[in-house]
Amino acid sequence: MFTRKLSYILVIAAVAFSTSTLAQNESRLPEGIPDLEAGQINPPSANWLLDAEDDQERFRRIQIYAGGTYEQMWQIGYRYEQIYHAIIDENWELADHHWDKITSVFNVALMKRPRRTPNAEAMFLNSSWIQFKQALDSHDVNSIRQSFQNQRNTCMACHVAEEMPFLNDSPIFRNTAEFPEN
Ligand code: HEC
Repeated sequence: MFTRKLSYILVIAAVAFSTSTLAQNESRLPEGIPDLEAGQINPPSANWLLDAEDDQERFRRIQIYAGGTYEQMWQIGYRYEQIYHAIIDENWELADHHWDKITSVFNVALMKRPRRTPNAEAMFLNSSWIQFKQALDSHDVNSIRQSFQNQRNTCMACHVAEEMPFLNDSPIFRNTAEFPEN
């Protein structure tokens, strides 16, 4: 009983604190990104690019916004899962659509993080990616399924090569380890 009362009081206090601080606070640039204040000509507003002091600072902000490989891998992971389901549905056009997008997206990641280009091209873009494209063109269910499993292995091998093996112990790869009987 006492603990329940205490938790009510804590919730009320937290709400009161957050509304009072929200009311007091003016817009301000976050501490988590260095040198934003120094590169700003006007008080912080939604014009986060236009109010930067010059193009150098604007491009720096866009680079930060664009993030690293993870921004594209997130999307690659999504498309990879869509392909898995498209294979079950035997929707080859959809699989092909996502597979094509994966190359463009991957190249964007490599433009931002060129250190990853050698592994990405040797292990995936110039080899494994082409094999799955050919399998899709064949419309042969068994070779498409087989080739998809090879892609899965390549994705995971690159994560190991890039020293992030923990990425592989995850639902995205577990759930695509095999296909239901057709
Ligand atoms: C260059 C080798 C390479 C290949 C090939 C590769 N990855 Fe990645 N992947 C990475 C790296 C490096 C990261 C971590 C990026 C970071 O944290 O900036 C990553 C991260 C991920 C993530 C986590 C993204 C997140 O939310 O932070 C997923 C999901 C993923 N990869 C899926 C895939 C799939 C699916 C494939 C195959 C179609 C694939 N990867 C092929 C290198 C690769």
